Amino acid sequence: MIISNVEKKVGDFEIKINDLYIEAGKIHGIIGANGSGKTTLCKLIMGILDAESGQVDYQGINPKDITMASQRPYFTHNSVYENICYPLKLRHRKIDEGRIDSLLEMCGLSDKKYQYARSLSSGEQQKVSMLRALVFEPEVIMIDETLSNLDPETTELFEQMILEQQKRKPVTWILISHRLAHIYKMCDQVHFMYRGSVIESGESREILFESEDKRIREFVANEVIKVEDGHGITES
Ligand SMILES: Nc1ncnc2c1ncn2[C@@H]1O[C@H](COP(=O)(O)OP(=O)(O)O)[C@@H](O)[C@H]1O
Ligand SMILES: [Mg+2]
Repeated sequence: MIISNVEKKVGDFEIKINDLYIEAGKIHGIIGANGSGKTTLCKLIMGILDAESGQVDYQGINPKDITMASQRPYFTHNSVYENICYPLKLRHRKIDEGRIDSLLEMCGLSDKKYQYARSLSSGEQQKVSMLRALVFEPEVIMIDETLSNLDPETTELFEQMILEQQKRKPVTWILISHRLAHIYKMCDQVHFMYRGSVIESGESREILFESEDKRIREFVANEVIKVEDGHGITES
């Protein structure tokens, strides 16, 4: 996917992506301060927001095959199970209930299968939103902070699921997370956003440890200090 000269204003904020290449079949990380435009960029890729100028070249990917697990998941007015099946039903795909059951079991949600999805706790909702994205097996999966809000065991579980799926059938992942250890562990490529623009892209190591850009070095240093201080960070 190639994003070129995309501009969009939301309120007082302006996003401007001159040239961003998201290589298919790789795990990409998007990092940057709160309010730097990470979520807005994902919405532009999803087509939830329309750019004012520029273009997103999907390179043959059907935009319907792009999904997003977001910080505030959207659920239809029915059960957890119905919500997980929803993207499959929309596309007339086969539903493997056994697989869904085993995924629910893996993340401790077996007894919530028939619960009204909107009544789940926020952590449970994030898990269901991850499962819904995984079951659907789209070509592009964007995960907006969902993983970094889960407890360590569940995060680890999803990390393993993503890496396994990547070996089996590589798809394109876009992970937004302020947990840099998670970004380093998972991502092939990292893109750093600053005030609405992607200012540097490269391999994880290049961005996290070798960047010469002062804004990136400061951001990384600050995140590391927060972790060492033991401050739980919840959202960005
Ligand atoms: N619909 C909107 N109306 C007004 N401002 C918005 C809207 N959506 C996002 N913004 C603003 O745009 C900036 C970027 O937001 P966002 O993309 O959510 O940042 P990030 O995900 O990097 O934290 C923020 O300052 C946010 O308040
Ligand atoms: Mg965000």
